[in-house]
Amino acid sequence: MVTLLNTVEDKFAREACRAHGDQADELLEILHDVQHEKGHLSDSALRTIAQALNISRAEIHGVVSFYHDYKREPGAKLTLHICRAEACKAVGADTLITEAETLLDVKLDEGGAEVALAAAYCLGNCALGPAIMVNDKLYGRVDRAKINAITAKHMAQIS
Ligand code: FES
Repeated sequence: MVTLLNTVEDKFAREACRAHGDQADELLEILHDVQHEKGHLSDSALRTIAQALNISRAEIHGVVSFYHDYKREPGAKLTLHICRAEACKAVGADTLITEAETLLDVKLDEGGAEVALAAAYCLGNCALGPAIMVNDKLYGRVDRAKINAITAKHMAQIS
């Protein structure tokens, strides 16, 4: 007999399935729960879900690949969304991006193990640009010093 519950991700995936009554029509909610908790959908999590719901792995892969919000690989621990829309560009968003890339040693929209930078197109904070968003928290009039402080603050919350 194959033991599928050999990693923390598998155990969580199993618990998520159980919480949804092991019902195949709850697949999207289960995938969402696993990704929300683990940050991505691992192979072992998908195998566990397939077995628990008694559906094929091909069916799950079809669903996961159809929805672009599902991630198959772990992402950065922290993502800074930097606005590149017109109002923020007019007050230095491009310069801020260059400074953030240098400061954090990552490139915009290229991922990163610890911190990633992602382009955003208007965060609804146009009067206080350049604007960034981190974990649903909005920051305005951001400069290099603020990027550094904001990143340090959020990383401390993760650790
Ligand atoms: S243009 Fe940057 S928040 Fe609107």
